[in-house]
Amino acid sequence: WDKRPLRLWRYKELLPVAGEPVSLQEGGTPLYHLKTIGKELGLKELYAKHEGMNPSGSFKDRGMTVGVSMAIQLGMKTVACASTGNTSASLAVYAAKAGIPAVVLLPAGKVALGKVAQALMHGAKVIAIRGNFDKALEMVHDLCINEGLYLLNSVNPYRLEGQKTIGFEAVDQLGGVPDRFVLPVGNAGNISAVYKGLLELQNLGFIDSLPMMTGIQAEGASPVVDAIHNKREVLVPEANPETVATAIRIGAPVNAEKALRAIRETNGTAIAVTDEEILAMQRSLARKEGIGVEPASAASVAGIKKLAEEGLIDKDERIVCVVTGHLLKDPEAVIKQCEPPTEIDANLESLLSVLR
Ligand code: F0G
Repeated sequence: WDKRPLRLWRYKELLPVAGEPVSLQEGGTPLYHLKTIGKELGLKELYAKHEGMNPSGSFKDRGMTVGVSMAIQLGMKTVACASTGNTSASLAVYAAKAGIPAVVLLPAGKVALGKVAQALMHGAKVIAIRGNFDKALEMVHDLCINEGLYLLNSVNPYRLEGQKTIGFEAVDQLGGVPDRFVLPVGNAGNISAVYKGLLELQNLGFIDSLPMMTGIQAEGASPVVDAIHNKREVLVPEANPETVATAIRIGAPVNAEKALRAIRETNGTAIAVTDEEILAMQRSLARKEGIGVEPASAASVAGIKKLAEEGLIDKDERIVCVVTGHLLKDPEAVIKQCEPPTEIDANLESLLSVLR
């Protein structure tokens, strides 16, 4: 056991696939100690698990190695998904590896450039609908039921099986259970998956406590936060979600019920952060820690900053924030907030004059 490398398939006994999986060596992502940001917030043990270091640059690869392997095992011919971007990029990658066609539905004009580029280059059939993600998911669901395609959104339980390994790895890397696990929440699959995995570890006797599951949403797309704060049993969907963090621009998360359970049963919480707070944390991670993430990913750390500043968490907690996708996924969000390169004539004099 201990000789197996820290990668997703290290945990194969706890995963559903029989035989050789469709794999690109996903998982085994770094767990970074956020020394500078942690110090600023008075948190000694603040960590970021960088899921952007997976093969396609997001945590979705954990779900897809399992999901696409199961599609093959079940004899499915074509795979499909709706996506705010990362799921489509990952599905395109794993369908390519498996040698089967993929169909992806995206909300037109609302998907970050890097993600569309990946879906196109890896050969998926990419369709942009004039509607939001929630509508795209409804459409692809009907398509799969009527035409026999295999749906690989997080309504597919095998996706969550793969993603639960984020929790396994964090426990392995820390040598124990963190006090709090913080995730950005969109369709609410990932927070549900990590909770399920840790619950399994507890039931198997490997760990004896669970972390407080903490979900962070963008203010303009925060139905889960609303349900937690207003103690709703059933979530009220948002018709027009909007945020700079397009990955989590979702108004009717399909895994909401599971996510609410994860948060409530672990005494966790959910809060919303503004687009400004998200972008400010994206810059802080980049400049103070050397960690490049896309806006949605920065939401988890922005959320912890807010909780710490409002005195809502214990400063001695050991905290793992999942940062879900790589900086290069969304170059447009970067260009918009940074000064462009300084262009000069090609001589040393000009160079020295701009550097002084
Ligand atoms: N962070 C990133 C970078 C994401 O791409 C997503 C979801 C999330 C967080 C939220 O995870 O949905 O499990 O709560 N992206 C999906 C997609 C919806 O289509 O790529 P969740």
